[in-house]
Amino acid sequence: MRDRIIVALDVPDAAAALAMADRIGPACTFYKVGLELYTAEGPAVVASLRDLGKNVFLDLKLHDIPNQVARATARAGELGVRFLTVHASGGGAMLMAAAAACPPSLDLLAVTVLTSLDAAGLSAVYGRPVADVGAEADRLAALARDAGIDGVVCAASEAGRVRAVMGPHALIVTPGIRLAGDPHHDQRRVRTAGQAFRAGSTHIVVGRPVTASGDPRGAFERIAAEAETRS
Ligand code: C5P
Repeated sequence: MRDRIIVALDVPDAAAALAMADRIGPACTFYKVGLELYTAEGPAVVASLRDLGKNVFLDLKLHDIPNQVARATARAGELGVRFLTVHASGGGAMLMAAAAACPPSLDLLAVTVLTSLDAAGLSAVYGRPVADVGAEADRLAALARDAGIDGVVCAASEAGRVRAVMGPHALIVTPGIRLAGDPHHDQRRVRTAGQAFRAGSTHIVVGRPVTASGDPRGAFERIAAEAETRS
């Protein structure tokens, strides 16, 4: 269970990332490197985390022409990362090119609908009324499935229906995790760890509830305990 809890290192540089990993300690085996940290430090910070024996989720949310996304996927495979994100909205050709370039050691995750988007936000993006965010996530998940993508990033509230679309073996990775009573920050659709796993998530992503805590190790333990006792 603990190996399925991914802590998002949304920090400005490698020193802060490695200091945070040290504060959290050995219980956390999986870290997410996102746009800020990767832009600042590049492959070196991935190598540093790999040297500590950690799995790395490289959350670059790739969205470009198929050739570029395929080549970036191949390079990510060479870095030894476990998960890499691509935007499902990049389209079938882009997704198929990424899947074809993906080595067996790497799983590709499609981002369907960002958890920060609600129905009004999606309606503005698509230029048409969107009443059901979950239906949009389903549609994008099906596009990813048909292209051979390994899994999906989605809100826990969509995990059940995304599982039905993607089938029993797909990865479902869920951000927007909070302990009961914690602040939501800018997350629109939050769930506890136990709720997310019960809804069918295979992995959860937790950022600020751990990294903004005065006691990151304790916060990680509380989330792990909540996941273990109630899932
Ligand atoms: O909110 P938290 O700090 O736990 O965010 C963890 C991860 O969740 C972030 O790295 C980001 O990828 C994702 N996130 C999101 N929607 C938001 C804020 C963050 O999906 N509104």
